[in-house]
Amino acid sequence: MEEKYLAVEELLKKHNQEQLLKNYERMSEEDKANFLDQILTIDLDQINELYESTKKEINFANDKIEPIDYVDKSNLSEEEYKKYEDLGTEAIKNGKYAVVTMAGGQGTRLGHDGPKGTFKLGLKEDKSIFEILTDSLKRNNEKYGVIIPWYIMTSRENNDQTEQFFKDNNYFGYDKSYITFFKQGELPMCSEDGKLIIDENNHIKEAADGHGGIFESMRRNGIIFDMEVRGIEWAFIGPVDNVLVNMVDPILLGVVLDKKVQAGGKSVVKAYPKEKVGVFCKRNGKPGVVEYTEITDELSEATNENGELIFAESHINCNLFNVKAISEISKKRLPYHCAHKKAKYMDENGNIIVPEKPNAYKFESFIFDAFDMLDGMAILRVKREEEFAPVKNAEGNDSPETARKLYKDFYGVE
Ligand code: UTP
Repeated sequence: MEEKYLAVEELLKKHNQEQLLKNYERMSEEDKANFLDQILTIDLDQINELYESTKKEINFANDKIEPIDYVDKSNLSEEEYKKYEDLGTEAIKNGKYAVVTMAGGQGTRLGHDGPKGTFKLGLKEDKSIFEILTDSLKRNNEKYGVIIPWYIMTSRENNDQTEQFFKDNNYFGYDKSYITFFKQGELPMCSEDGKLIIDENNHIKEAADGHGGIFESMRRNGIIFDMEVRGIEWAFIGPVDNVLVNMVDPILLGVVLDKKVQAGGKSVVKAYPKEKVGVFCKRNGKPGVVEYTEITDELSEATNENGELIFAESHINCNLFNVKAISEISKKRLPYHCAHKKAKYMDENGNIIVPEKPNAYKFESFIFDAFDMLDGMAILRVKREEEFAPVKNAEGNDSPETARKLYKDFYGVE
């Protein structure tokens, strides 16, 4: 241990992180051993790079942003609809399709005590979001005569509670050998002066690395391998917090197969020009999403000859990928975005500090930053009232109240 301590000390000094050892003597023997081991798993060069990146503005001004083609699901001719439906249905029936649900978020805006999927929507039948999603998949299994493998991405923080919730509810009647939970990755947070911090359990403070971390964590956890073994070629990756998410849509798969591209994304029309959503676009000729924080007023308000917005296809985090593309992306690094957050920590005297304002940086990657690695992407415009009922905020827009209403209207239930 003495040797390990010296090695860690040298490493930390080299990276200007030796403040981490100030609390070392106060720790139990077990915590000391874990602490040293944890430090050795951290890429300290990467942390320094990430911290340096917080000082630079990312400049998108030179990117060429253009509208992207899309297929409007509600405007297809009968013939087109059938062509896509047949193509998609065949692949689903042949067991080539899986669903991945991203449930690793912290759900801070909703403020529910527990993983977001355990939140009860307030329907007459007292269903949680996880039960609503399971029901939807079960209906599709019946329709296509298969059992769709379902992979649920959790985080270190919410994994045990999520797995326990499914166990306690007998997996809502889903065949449990078709459900796989896997944890997303984490990255250390750092203070405003670039220093790693310690949490109340004597661990280096880490936080989930964003939904873009899904590709790497699918590889690390053997999910890509499992898909390959099962003969799965297509994986729909969607959010946990949209109670109308249509996870098995043969039309989306059919359009992607017909266009011979590696991925597809669903969009809903932006409600008004300045709506705070990211929209699909072509960025430097590649598929991408331009965020509301980056788009110029001119582009967000631009219309075509029919008076329709030309950047109108909101990204709703419902995307379909070829498994080979997931595998390729998983080996590359996505850019990290930095968020300024409040982080409880232990100071150098062993006191636990609960900050009142943001005091640390968290680093996250976003799933749509992977789109430019694809050879192409088909966008399918769907109807908001049929497929998009997000549960984000405790009240107001995109809250349980609005999602409940959309759900009830769509399914005609109480
Ligand atoms: P959001 O970006 O809305 O984040 O996630 P969130 O964590 O759920 O909520 P807030 O921002 O803290 O209020 C969109 C989807 O991506 C998943 C979420 O679980 C949700 O399904 N997600 C997000 C992850 O799986 N991991 C992450 O690190 C972030």
